[in-house]
Amino acid sequence: MDEGVMKTYARADEVFVSGHGAVLQDSTGREFLDFLAGIAVSALGHGHAGLAAALRDQVGKVVHLSNLFRHPYTEQVATRLCTLTDMAAAFFTNSGTEALECALKLARKAMHVRGTPQRTSFVALEGGFHGRTLGSLSLTHNEKYRKPFLPLQQCTWVAPEDSDALARTLREQQAAALVIEPVQGEGGIRELSTGFLQRARELCTETGTLLVHDEIQSGCGRTGRFLAGQHAGVIPDVVTLAKPIAAGLPMGACLTTAAFADTFQKGEHGSTFAGGPLVCRAALVFLDEVERGLLGNVQDRGLQMRAGLEGLQREFPVVREVRGRGLMLGLRLHHSADQVQKDLYRAGLIVNCTAGDVLRIVPPFVVTESQVKTALQTLRTVIAKLPSTAPTTAPTAAPVKEVKK
Ligand SMILES: Cc1ncc(COP(=O)(O)O)c(C=O)c1O
Repeated sequence: MDEGVMKTYARADEVFVSGHGAVLQDSTGREFLDFLAGIAVSALGHGHAGLAAALRDQVGKVVHLSNLFRHPYTEQVATRLCTLTDMAAAFFTNSGTEALECALKLARKAMHVRGTPQRTSFVALEGGFHGRTLGSLSLTHNEKYRKPFLPLQQCTWVAPEDSDALARTLREQQAAALVIEPVQGEGGIRELSTGFLQRARELCTETGTLLVHDEIQSGCGRTGRFLAGQHAGVIPDVVTLAKPIAAGLPMGACLTTAAFADTFQKGEHGSTFAGGPLVCRAALVFLDEVERGLLGNVQDRGLQMRAGLEGLQREFPVVREVRGRGLMLGLRLHHSADQVQKDLYRAGLIVNCTAGDVLRIVPPFVVTESQVKTALQTLRTVIAKLPSTAPTTAPTAAPVKEVKK
């Protein structure tokens, strides 16, 4: 197994060959309920007929052009994304980490344009995850990911919800950008409060720091609105998207407001593959589904799932906390979530473990009422077998200080 491949992943043994909706099938014909969706990606589930038709059509026409030439779909995707996010311009990428790199470069360039090129540092939050390339890795809080690659870019981390520390840091640092996830994904499905998000906006405006919302995991409708920041009524200067944006094809986007739309000049940023016709066709299929009301299902199934998880919390003391909203949910346990995830997997439910003690539940947006019911039953069966309040044995991957508001 894994012959000829770098040893960066711990993969399950099963070989998956097909799927339909929120169901995945392995090579033995066994079906699994996929409540991980390729780590919060496959919004339209598997085997989506409209996506297959659009891709077949596009493959028969033109797959790749580079950004030296035009195709009909770049502007269509860009303008629709701008409308949904209150932004004015998009730069397309092939992944989340590249979208974040674009945001960091944009912030640096904006400081040059403004005549403050000495403002090079970044501020981010404890527990935050922003990617694995050198720039985005510099802001990712978990030391395990950064340590082997030091030195990186200068970044200061502040505890989530600590508005005073954030004010102090932004005033002292005179950083290029503050980068935050409105709902931390890898940090344990931790939702930032409306008050903290609004205060971060005010402080960035006051200090001339660009506010970047990393919505790579929380965005594109996963929390029930197109952006998680929209629940708090906050408009950042830059927003990064990826994961579900092209229904499973590799695509990301860095979007910015009119004030920063012309920050990059020709040739100052680029990508060979990004925003090509094939991924843009996929993104249009996803955006069409959003327009047809897909986020209504995210809201309804999210409420159903959350109510079920809260029921488990009332029933089993080993369940510590229910986190998140929409279809970005976390079940925090007094137990290693890693072990529970393996038991769930054996029982046919795919989720994963984040921050050591949190089960991350991020199903496709098309998940059905009966699939949510089945997933809750499987969770109940597995959780019922756990010792009642065993202390967590797993290290918390991204320790987050509890701060009184
Ligand atoms: C909030 C956030 N930012 C950035 C990334 C990096 O995205 P990618 O893995 O597509 O490079 C992720 C991936 O999990 C993420 O959740």
